[in-house]
Amino acid sequence: MVTAARLDFQGFGGVPIVGDAFGSPDDPAVLLIPSTGQSRAFWHGSARALADAGRYAICVDLRGHGDSGHASDGRYDLDAYVGDLKAVLAALPSRAVVVAAGLGALVAIAAIGESTAPLISGLVLVDANIWFDSNTSARLHSAFSRLTTVFASADDVLKAIISLHPDEPSLVARERLLAAYERDGSGGFRWRGDPRAVMTADIRGARERLAAAAAQIRNLPVTLIRGSLNSTISAEAVDRLQSMIEGSESAEIEGAGHYAAAEREEAFNAVLLEFLERRAPRQPISYIGGAEPRVLRDALGCFGTGVTVVTSFDGEGEPIGFTANSFSSLSLDPPLIIFSLAKTSGSLESFVAAGRFAVNVLHIGQQPIANRFARRDAPRFDGVDWTTQADKGSPILRGALASFDCTTYAMHEGGDHLIFVGQVNHAWFEPHRDPLLYFRGRYRRLHFA
Ligand SMILES: Cc1cc2nc3c(=O)[nH]c(=O)nc-3n(C[C@H](O)[C@H](O)[C@H](O)COP(=O)(O)O)c2cc1C
Repeated sequence: MVTAARLDFQGFGGVPIVGDAFGSPDDPAVLLIPSTGQSRAFWHGSARALADAGRYAICVDLRGHGDSGHASDGRYDLDAYVGDLKAVLAALPSRAVVVAAGLGALVAIAAIGESTAPLISGLVLVDANIWFDSNTSARLHSAFSRLTTVFASADDVLKAIISLHPDEPSLVARERLLAAYERDGSGGFRWRGDPRAVMTADIRGARERLAAAAAQIRNLPVTLIRGSLNSTISAEAVDRLQSMIEGSESAEIEGAGHYAAAEREEAFNAVLLEFLERRAPRQPISYIGGAEPRVLRDALGCFGTGVTVVTSFDGEGEPIGFTANSFSSLSLDPPLIIFSLAKTSGSLESFVAAGRFAVNVLHIGQQPIANRFARRDAPRFDGVDWTTQADKGSPILRGALASFDCTTYAMHEGGDHLIFVGQVNHAWFEPHRDPLLYFRGRYRRLHFA
């Protein structure tokens, strides 16, 4: 799993702003800003997905929230938040895409719309509501004031958060929401921020200013995201804001409420990544024949594959095998498959001499086997359950998703690898389990948005 590096920024008036960074600073930056009352942990799931997709993702705590500093002068107004955002953006290694929720989204609208300089390279506004009606405002105000007291238990904290959005799905992001709280001396849970930050986060008075700023946002990829069950912002409010921001688009996350990024994390991340790839794509990296092979490997790694263990017997009758993803189907008539083996492999000669092999396709639970058969330092078959199905058959791993028992049909030169073509004598498969996948140098699992 991608781990976070802590970052420290100097916000407006010198207030310390704390962030977590995921991924490489060489990749295009994405800055994630939470809403009132939340901590930066709220965005950790999306930040990890962004880092996996080749972005440098930074989540920050708003002033007066989480680990960021408190404003000793009580400045929790829009200008102070805008100043913080500009200071953080200026300290990032590349012009960031900003992903911001709730209050964070309103701050981003003001900062970007009112600036004449191009501060960012894209904007994702989650639950951005400029036009709170008075009932919603009153409800949020009283709920926020309750959130900043001390709670007896974690469940009480969550109940209070749910009371902010009573008609929405249950909170699945328990840990992420609790990250905004800390244990106090008596075992209770206390909000970690400055209570004044929540009480004065009410920017209703700034409606006109925000609407004017939104209308100034131009020449920027912008999308507005809303959970379909969100009770604090209507689909009409999103449409209205979208119509004000030139060239913007919008998306709904089905079945999510106010915490879409956590409640429907995979669906939310899919929408976010698709938007970024389309509207703020990374620069493609190119390989020219003869250049650094690492770049070619990275390019080839874009082709997702399954994972197999190819097996046979050595001259002493001992089982041999290695992890391979170079497996491919070749012909149905005759039934042929191929894989390739590095000429540096310690088992090359044995595979050549054996004249037979089996390809075992691994399922999602067999990653430990894939690791073991790719390492040189440990005995590979110890503790592995295998069998042979026929006279002159090769080792078949029990429980594999599919196995193909083959006679070597041909071998071909392939640069630093030898290509083995096998004629399938017998094949078995298990129709229900999911495959282990390999993509961009890492094991993966099937995932549906
Ligand atoms: C996912 C994955 C796929 C691999 N695919 C191949 C492959 O197709 N051909 C190959 O020669 N090595 C491949 N390797 C590397 C071998 O598994 C690894 O080098 C192994 O140690 C070779 O051992 P040996 O020298 O004992 O044969 C792969 C490794 C991994 C992790």
